[in-house]
Amino acid sequence: MYSDFKTISTYYDALYVNDREYAPEAARVKALLTRHGIVSQADLLVLACGTGGHIPYFKDDYHVSGLDLSEDMLNLAREKFPGIRFHLGNLIDFKLDSDFDAMICLYGSIGFVKTMDNLRASMKRISAHLRPDGLALITPWSTVEDFQSLIVVDAADKPDLKIARMEQVRLKEPKIVEVTFHHLIGQNNEVTYHKQSMKIGLFSREEYRSAMTDAGLEVVEEYRGTDVRGGAYIGKRVAG
Ligand SMILES: C[S@@+](CC[C@H](N)C(=O)[O-])C[C@H]1O[C@@H](n2cnc3c(N)ncnc32)[C@H](O)[C@@H]1O
Repeated sequence: MYSDFKTISTYYDALYVNDREYAPEAARVKALLTRHGIVSQADLLVLACGTGGHIPYFKDDYHVSGLDLSEDMLNLAREKFPGIRFHLGNLIDFKLDSDFDAMICLYGSIGFVKTMDNLRASMKRISAHLRPDGLALITPWSTVEDFQSLIVVDAADKPDLKIARMEQVRLKEPKIVEVTFHHLIGQNNEVTYHKQSMKIGLFSREEYRSAMTDAGLEVVEEYRGTDVRGGAYIGKRVAG
């Protein structure tokens, strides 16, 4: 079921993590959290945090920790941020020893849970670990309404690492998107080719809303700005 990030983790930061996208996204997320009552130094859990690409933008304003299913991604995050707690866990069934004021799940990572049952289970776990009036901010991996097939092209050019990537994004089954990564990696005088496909669940806007509501999260805002990739569903844990 799980889309393996083992190989991609080694060059994930070079390829995907950059100030140009992450800084404005994090700034907007912070503004949204503030708008919905999350105060400075609140306990914030970054779900599916990967290599911790968003952590630098949050670590001074909140008491931040992370959770991800990939030990490889987490090890890179732990190396970069030794003072921060990172939990190995699955969105659909995680259990931690503390609760949080807010949780965020960015860059469409929720889509990796794939099925509606798993989406519902994830929202229940999120709700269960939020304090009353706590906030969940979840960015969808596109939606049924917004999805478009596409080919992404990009490159990274660092002194000791060159990467060219194309990603083919297409509908594989009615509500499953397949992303096929074609990566050419130039390192140590060698160019290697890496191909990997991952399956991602495509949910409708109503499915995101109902998964939240049924888990006890009142949808207080649907943010549609493009500075947060995918927009965001913001749910407040109903007190009681
Ligand atoms: C595209 S990466 C995004 C990482 C990070 N949010 C970012 O924006 O850089 C998706 C992440 O989701 C994680 N992931 C996938 N399925 C998961 C699950 N069921 N529970 C927790 N993390 C998961 C992967 O291990 C990976 O680190």
